[in-house]
Amino acid sequence: MHNETSLIQRIKHRSATSDDVERLFSIEKANMMGIVVRFYPDRWSDNECREKIIENLDRTVIFELCEDYVGHFYWYPSDTYESVWLGSLQLKREYHGKGIGKRMMKIFEETVRAQGYRLVFLSVFNDTPAKELYRKLGYSEIKFDGRYAVEMKKELA
Ligand SMILES: CC(C)(COP(=O)(O)OP(=O)(O)OC[C@H]1O[C@@H](n2cnc3c(N)ncnc32)[C@H](O)[C@@H]1OP(=O)(O)O)[C@@H](O)C(=O)NCCC(=O)NCCS
Repeated sequence: MHNETSLIQRIKHRSATSDDVERLFSIEKANMMGIVVRFYPDRWSDNECREKIIENLDRTVIFELCEDYVGHFYWYPSDTYESVWLGSLQLKREYHGKGIGKRMMKIFEETVRAQGYRLVFLSVFNDTPAKELYRKLGYSEIKFDGRYAVEMKKELA
């Protein structure tokens, strides 16, 4: 526990730049392609993944440990209710299970709250560690497609 706390304290975050696109793409692909293909065999597209990264680059936060890439998230505003969507939350495999995801979500919530947003939506595959993380942080299920995808929301204090 002590080691995990000091690890988290040593992780710094910064805004993404166009130099980061390929690095962001490679972690998105490494983490998500297997999950997406498991649920939707024809759904993964490198181009679509890269386009989303570029589209959301201004709202992407990167986490690093001594300049080594650790993870990132990005978000985008929704059309209604002064709300945002969490577009992506990614952590390199070797850093999973150390409390870093929780810390990244705290920074995500602080970031959007500071910009005046009070409501967060997200979509997640059922039965994944990510869903458990969101549930633990107070996100509640609002929609389930009956198969794989769950929409969740949280009102920020
Ligand atoms: C989702 C993700 C960011 C979680 O990050 P993490 O640092 O491993 O999570 P944490 O260590 O902060 O764990 C927070 C909580 O999530 C849950 N959790 C994390 N990993 C879990 C696992 N393998 N199984 C079940 N629950 C898990 C636990 O409830 C945990 O709380 P606890 O430690 O008090 O028990 C990481 O697993 C990831 O990058 N996954 C691949 C990408 C992905 O699925 N992104 C989400 C797309 S919507």
